[in-house]
Amino acid sequence: MIREFDLTGRLAVVTGGAAGIGRAICAVLAEGGARVVVADRNAEAAAALAAELGGIALPLDVTDPERCEIAAIDLMANYGPAAILVNNAGIVMNATSLEVDLADWRRVIDVNLHGVFHTSRAFGRHMVAAGRGSVINISSICGEVTVHPQPQAAYNAAKAGVNLLTKSLAVEWAGRVRVNAVAPGYTATELTLLGRSKPEWFNTWLAGIPMGRLAEPREIALAVAYLASDAASYVTGTVLTVDGGYTAI
Ligand SMILES: NC(=O)c1ccc[n+]([C@@H]2O[C@H](COP(=O)([O-])OP(=O)(O)OC[C@H]3O[C@@H](n4cnc5c(N)ncnc54)[C@H](O)[C@@H]3O)[C@@H](O)[C@H]2O)c1
Repeated sequence: MIREFDLTGRLAVVTGGAAGIGRAICAVLAEGGARVVVADRNAEAAAALAAELGGIALPLDVTDPERCEIAAIDLMANYGPAAILVNNAGIVMNATSLEVDLADWRRVIDVNLHGVFHTSRAFGRHMVAAGRGSVINISSICGEVTVHPQPQAAYNAAKAGVNLLTKSLAVEWAGRVRVNAVAPGYTATELTLLGRSKPEWFNTWLAGIPMGRLAEPREIALAVAYLASDAASYVTGTVLTVDGGYTAI
């Protein structure tokens, strides 16, 4: 084991940690030695995974800023400041911009962009006060390029926002807390089930991926583990793309 990759004893909060990529992140960080806080709006699934990993369950909806602040204060009082915060909770919604329901538009921005800000601020203030820590935001290739054929402007705009929010916080907190993003390409989770069930979408996706396959959640989680660790001690404000070459074309 390379010494800098060791996460032993670090408190790691993972939002949306109960399923998909978040679940893999929880598992990988726990394997690395971290004490994982599975934060998810699905309280039952969070409790089950926390029990499996010997971690802590935190029922949390990232769109509720007050609840995020209270959760962070409670965590601080009981366990101290988080060493690692992974802002992973996210949703997708497919609709054309001329037809999208405004409530759906707002919901996507609220979870995917405002949610990252709420938890970064709530947990981040204790990390900044402690003078150390690593925040990793789960962005997407959609923050950099417009994927197709599925229409999802709200999601794309939110993820582009996450990329600049990442850099903004990295600069504000430089020397105390590192802030980076991981931008996954298409990954085999519930979130991509609809697209994988539609041959006209799925075949377009595969044609755009030089490696010719989707990512497994663990392949995204391992990039998060790197950024969380001291191996990335001089890395801040970066967006690490993990996409099988999708954005290289
Ligand atoms: N799957 C992909 O292809 C892909 C690609 C790029 C980026 N991403 C991003 O990765 C992240 C995880 O996606 P996934 O594919 O694992 O999704 P998923 O739907 O499989 O899991 C999402 C998890 O987040 C939780 N969640 C949703 N809204 C929440 C909220 N408001 N508060 C707290 N928890 C909430 C859900 O309960 C669930 O446990 C998202 O930010 C997504 O945008 C996914």
